[in-house]
Amino acid sequence: MLSTEENELICRVGPGTPMGDLMRRYWHPFLLVDELLDADGPPVRVRLLGEDLIAFRNTNGEVGLLDERCPHRGASLFFAINQECGMMCIYHGWKFDVNGDCVDMPSDLPGSTFKEKVHARAYPCIESAGVIWTYMGPSEKRPPAPNFIFNNLPEENVLARRVPIYCNYLQSLEGNIDSTHLGTLHVNYADKVPADLDTDLPGYCSQRFSRYTLAKYRYAKVDIQDTDYGFRLIAARPTDSGNQHIRINCHVLPYTSFIAGQQRGQQSVLIHVPADDENCFRISINFRPNQPFSGAERRERRYADSSNLEDDGKTRRNRKVNDWNINRYDQKHTILAGIWPFGDQDYAVTESMGPILDRTKEHLYGGDAAIIRVRQMLATAARNLQEGIEPPATNGDVPYAQIQGEEIIIGPDDDAWLIAANAGETAKRGERLL
Ligand code: FES
Ligand SMILES: [Fe+2]
Repeated sequence: MLSTEENELICRVGPGTPMGDLMRRYWHPFLLVDELLDADGPPVRVRLLGEDLIAFRNTNGEVGLLDERCPHRGASLFFAINQECGMMCIYHGWKFDVNGDCVDMPSDLPGSTFKEKVHARAYPCIESAGVIWTYMGPSEKRPPAPNFIFNNLPEENVLARRVPIYCNYLQSLEGNIDSTHLGTLHVNYADKVPADLDTDLPGYCSQRFSRYTLAKYRYAKVDIQDTDYGFRLIAARPTDSGNQHIRINCHVLPYTSFIAGQQRGQQSVLIHVPADDENCFRISINFRPNQPFSGAERRERRYADSSNLEDDGKTRRNRKVNDWNINRYDQKHTILAGIWPFGDQDYAVTESMGPILDRTKEHLYGGDAAIIRVRQMLATAARNLQEGIEPPATNGDVPYAQIQGEEIIIGPDDDAWLIAANAGETAKRGERLL
C-alpha cells in the first residue's frame, strides 16, 4: 500500500516530474525497426514519456526523432515531407534534419541567417536487436548504448515485438515480477494433468512438467536480492518428488524484466515503456543464443500479432470496451482466465485496475515482495536524482550482457542463491530482504 503522493511520484513520467527526469536518464526502445523501414518514407507518430514525437528515416537511412510541433508556429511535422535528409514542414517549408537543426528556411528573406538560430527538439536514436532506441535526457549524461545479451547476438537470433497496453507502465510491469499469478491467471486446465514426471530431477525439466508444477503448486516462496542494476527475484515451488522448482527473474531499472527461462531454450525480456501516464507499450524481445529464428517462425509470429489487432493495425482487439472478449465457457472448461491469447490475460487484469492503479487500497502479501521492491527502488532513485545523486546503472559499469533469467530444478537442500550465482550473473551480491 502506498500513499497517494508516493503513487503519483512513481507513476507520472511527463517532462519535469521526478520519475520523468529519472526515466530520461536511460535509453528507451520505442519502435521496431520493421515499423520504420523506408528511407524518405512516411514518418511515424510516437508518444513517449508524455511527449508527442515524430520518427522518420532520412535519405541516408538514419533515424530521427523530433518534437511533433514545428518550432516555427507549431504545425505538426507528421505532415512534413521526408526528403533530402530532412523533414520539410508543409506550412512554410522550414526543414529539419535528424539533429533538429534547421537546414532550410525558404520563407525567410534571401541572405537571412535566422535559420541558424532555430532548432527542433530532437533525440538521438540507435538501432539494435531489431528495435529503435532513443535517449531523451541531457546529452552530457547519456549512458552507453544498451548492451544486454540480445544486443550482442546476430539479428537472426532475436525476435522483437511491440504491443500497446492501455494503462500506466508500472502496474503493467509489476505483472512481470508477480510470480504467484502464474498458478492462476495463465493456467490451462490441461496443465493440471501430471506429465513428464521423469524430468523432475535437478537440472532442466520439460516445459510440460514446468507448466504442471506451476498449475499444481499455486504458491511460491519469493526471495529478493538487490543488484547494481535492480534486483533478482527467486520464486521457489516444491515438486512432486520433493525437489525445488526455481524461477529467477532479473529486473533491470527502470522497467526491463528478464523472465525466467530454461537456458537451453529461448529466453525472453519484457520492457514496459511509458507512452504517457495512462498508456504504455510492451517491447518483448525473444532470443535464442544458439538458434536463429526461421523465416517461417517470424511470419507466424507476425501473423499472430496482427490478428490480435483491429484493422488499423494498432489497436488491440481485446480491451476494456469489450471486456477483453472474455469467454465464460472457456473459463470453466479450457483456460482459467477465459481470455486469449496468453499476453492478453496479463493486459486484461492490469488494464482492469484502471488507467493508474490506486495503490492506497491494496493488501500486499509475501508473494508481492518484488512488487514492493521495485516501487521502493524507483521512488528512491527518483528522489535521489532530485538531490543530485546519479541514477543506478547508468555509467556502463554493470555487466549488462550477462544478465539473464533462469528456470531450473534443484535438490531439496540446494541453495537457490548459489544456482543464481551460476546463472551467468556477476553483479555483486547485495542485501537479501526476506
Ligand atoms: S509552422 Fe512549420 S514552417 Fe511554419
Ligand atoms: Fe503473466
